[in-house]
Amino acid sequence: MSTLATVILAAGLGTRMKSERAKVLHRVAGRAMIEYPVALAQALHADRVVCVLGHQADQVLATVDGRFGAGAVEVALQHQQRGTGHALQQAAPLLAEHQGLLLILSGDVPLLTEATLRRLCDTASAGILAMLTFSPPSPRGYGRVVRDDGGKVVRIVEEKDCSETERRIGECNAGVYCGPGRFIMDALGSLLPNNAQGELYLTDIVARAAKELGVAALETPTEEVMGVNDRVDLARADAAMRRRLTEALMRSGVTVADPDRLHLEPEVVVGVDSTLGPGVQLHGHTIIGRGCRIDAGVVITDCTIGDGVHIKPYCVLTESSVGNHAHIGPFAHLRPGSVLDDDVHLGNFVETKKTRLGRGSKANHLSYLGDADIGARVNVGCGTITCNYDGYIKSKTVIEDDVFVGSDTQLVAPVTIHAGAVIAAGSTVVDDVPAGALVLTRVAQVHVDGWAARKRQKMAALKAGLPWPPARPKTTTKKVAKKDKAKAPPKAKSPSPRKPKAKRRS
Ligand code: UD1
Ligand code: CA
Repeated sequence: MSTLATVILAAGLGTRMKSERAKVLHRVAGRAMIEYPVALAQALHADRVVCVLGHQADQVLATVDGRFGAGAVEVALQHQQRGTGHALQQAAPLLAEHQGLLLILSGDVPLLTEATLRRLCDTASAGILAMLTFSPPSPRGYGRVVRDDGGKVVRIVEEKDCSETERRIGECNAGVYCGPGRFIMDALGSLLPNNAQGELYLTDIVARAAKELGVAALETPTEEVMGVNDRVDLARADAAMRRRLTEALMRSGVTVADPDRLHLEPEVVVGVDSTLGPGVQLHGHTIIGRGCRIDAGVVITDCTIGDGVHIKPYCVLTESSVGNHAHIGPFAHLRPGSVLDDDVHLGNFVETKKTRLGRGSKANHLSYLGDADIGARVNVGCGTITCNYDGYIKSKTVIEDDVFVGSDTQLVAPVTIHAGAVIAAGSTVVDDVPAGALVLTRVAQVHVDGWAARKRQKMAALKAGLPWPPARPKTTTKKVAKKDKAKAPPKAKSPSPRKPKAKRRS
């Protein structure tokens, strides 16, 4: 193949999207539409890639640079959108020296495949203008391909310029062309805005090529070349792209429980014999190993997951890494910077952030572990909290190997628990704990005998509107005869209800 330059037309606002955002920034399978033609140009090893940008050029370029690296594309600015031909004219100065083939792509045709474009470029290399055409169920809105009696393409007519007969043509222009760069540049110079929209139509170069060069129309499946003009098209393209990615994944040896409800993005990798449950979402640069089980509703973004990992339903993992054979969830939340080594178990309602858990460590229930470095074989009890933030700065918690953290423990950072220490349940640890020590910070337990019964009695009385404490019966002072007094029973020794005797338990 001779040298190849690619121009991507993407300056339009996309009025039919009814959006404040430029059309090519809307997403298909999690990626801005502009990323698809750029990725294709790179896959074809194009020597030059020029994007014609206009509406929100800065944001569009930032998106492209973010994905492909700064300088991956050259930019030609089209300040006023005066048609697809006018757009390509803006790229012409950049390509004045270009001798080879010129491939023209649209920023709003995301489903094109590399194979189709290779076919297009191969056809064009015979020195003709090659273009993609398709026959959608409804050709509404597309330019129609006009052929002569011998079946040769003569020109393209936009729907707004169609005669009644032309409007009935089913074959449409996909807006994707490849031809000799010099011819196309030359033809651009002679475009005129003599059409219903008063624009410079790129499609007019087809008529000239038909006369001077020859035109090859390559019929392409509708799904591949369907343009995105409004949000209905966008949803359709999104579903089609996700289905394509999902089918490729299934063919590569991954089981997908409910293919229609899997959200996949182009760069996601999943190893063989892994199973993805219904409603799983895999975003960005996510890599999942072999033999993993990812259950329903799990959302993973930019993570690396090892082999044989089981992620139970409804976990959210972002910018984190998980070692082999780890078990996570259900309902666990790994926030950015979480690193789980092999065989780690993280249970329900455990949240981690900028935290490493060493091999075989477990935090099985209800914990927040933030800014923590946790060694191997550590048991983090239920309800453990790293108090990493004092309202001003974040501090680190270090838990060395083989530590046992009892349930309901607060670790007030900065703090280090040295190897093998045991933290008794309910402790608030503010100072470093020496290796192998027991740390116990809770208040000593007291028992108040009989308290519960007295409380119930009092509450029952108050509820019934009786006085409390009950009025004592009136006693008449009567002298007790000396002999009676001797018979009187001894006074009962009951503790005063007000001053209970506390019994300490150590
Ligand atoms: C275009 C074709 C039509 C074809 C259809 C296929 C023309 C005149 N018509 O129509 O034959 O059937 O694509 O999808 O080419 N753009 C610019 N600057 C402009 C105008 C457009 O950069 O001044 C860009 C847009 O951002 C978009 C692409 O060119 O990415 C296509 O423009 P759009 O307005 O969507 O063309 P269609 O009406 O779809
Ligand atoms: Ca379009």
